[in-house]
Amino acid sequence: MKGKKLWGGRFEQETATITEKISASVDFDKRLYRQDIHGSIVHAEMLRNIGVLNDEECRKIVNGLQEILKEIEENKFEFFHSLEDVHMNIEYALTQKIGEVGKKLHTARSRNDQVALDMRLYLREECALIRRLIAHVVHELVTKAETHLEIIMPAYTHLQVAQPVRFSHYLLAHAWALVRDIGRLEAAERASMVLPLGVGACAGVNYRNDREFLRKKLGFASISQNSMDTVSDRDYILDFLYFAAVLGMHLSRMAEELVLWSTSEFGFIRLSDSVTTGSSIMPQKRNPDVAELIRGKSGRLYGNLMSLLVTMKGLPLTYNRDMQEDKEPLFDSIDTVKMCLEGMKEMIATMEVNGGVMRNAVYSNYSTATDLADYLVKKGVPFREAHEIVGAIVKHCEREKKDFFSLTHSDLQMFSNAFDSDAVNLLDPMRSTENKVSAGGTALVEVEKQIRELKHILKSLGEVR
Ligand code: ARG
Repeated sequence: MKGKKLWGGRFEQETATITEKISASVDFDKRLYRQDIHGSIVHAEMLRNIGVLNDEECRKIVNGLQEILKEIEENKFEFFHSLEDVHMNIEYALTQKIGEVGKKLHTARSRNDQVALDMRLYLREECALIRRLIAHVVHELVTKAETHLEIIMPAYTHLQVAQPVRFSHYLLAHAWALVRDIGRLEAAERASMVLPLGVGACAGVNYRNDREFLRKKLGFASISQNSMDTVSDRDYILDFLYFAAVLGMHLSRMAEELVLWSTSEFGFIRLSDSVTTGSSIMPQKRNPDVAELIRGKSGRLYGNLMSLLVTMKGLPLTYNRDMQEDKEPLFDSIDTVKMCLEGMKEMIATMEVNGGVMRNAVYSNYSTATDLADYLVKKGVPFREAHEIVGAIVKHCEREKKDFFSLTHSDLQMFSNAFDSDAVNLLDPMRSTENKVSAGGTALVEVEKQIRELKHILKSLGEVR
């Protein structure tokens, strides 16, 4: 449909096809239809309250909008490119449906405060959904941690075996990162809870409108204080995109480990068939595509943040059409994090844990060397000297092709007289984990404490399942 524009009054020539093409956002912003209609209904009620619309007019507008909502939901609504965006498509359809009175809806409102409203309402709903999905992943991690308390694995630094830890402790490490993500998500949500509607295009409107009514009806925490700032502000979207980028980074790091742990070389875990794919040429392959794609998708999440930061940079106050470019990055980040969280949940819930393989990795890699050095320190040997002594023991074992835990008391005594007979106990990785009793350590009591704390957090987030 090419033809008359809702803003066409002062124009003489037709809009060029390229102008329609470059301005049209309806293909992607039509997903705001529910928020747009909801906002318009409340706006109409406010206009009635302040005497701009009479009861009859308001009723017609509200009914018309509700019919449009139904049509869109039933896929019976036609969106036109020439009408640019979701807002003008709905407003146009309203007038087609109820006649002249439809043209009164846009009184005391601009698309600038309207679009800010729709985006804030939309983001708020998505934040709630995403918080649930994060809670699901945390829940899976906690559940796996609880059922695998006795499995130990190496903790790595520099991807070299460092010290023995409980597999549960490792899983919970990722859970805590996700809990911090929830904090960032909530910060973005809070930033979106400021009502923009009622400021008009940029300067305010020539009506004593009732923004407090709008705030209450639309469920905002507060009302924006400056009309120019209101239509220029996209910080809440940037906050969300930052949250999504950091979450993406966490998921990517988890995914990387799942890829690594499931290789035949590591073999710590086996990913379920449900989250792996085959190769079109190599019949033996089981590829961890879900994990790889989650790792890969962090790239677009970073890109979306950067994209909007750059779009906003240098824009003069107030609204500029550039800001229409906030939508695709936001929508893409929302869709991407939801997909990644679901994929991660599925992988964790269905993975097989090879406790024996993890155990071998801690037993054969001198992972208790630090415990042995600490033992010497307790016997009065200065730490640097103890470090040196244990280093020599490792060298000896490597030469003799021996594991640490096969050393006897007399073997140890060749290196230092400070070793009493109880020292051999420390060579056992399981014992080592039990000695990590500092707050937040990998000893059983400390891990159980974390599980309790995380369950408490999950409970405060509401129903997870
Ligand atoms: N589709 C536009 C956007 O997303 C709505 C606001 C248009 N305002 C304007 N003055 N052209 O930003």
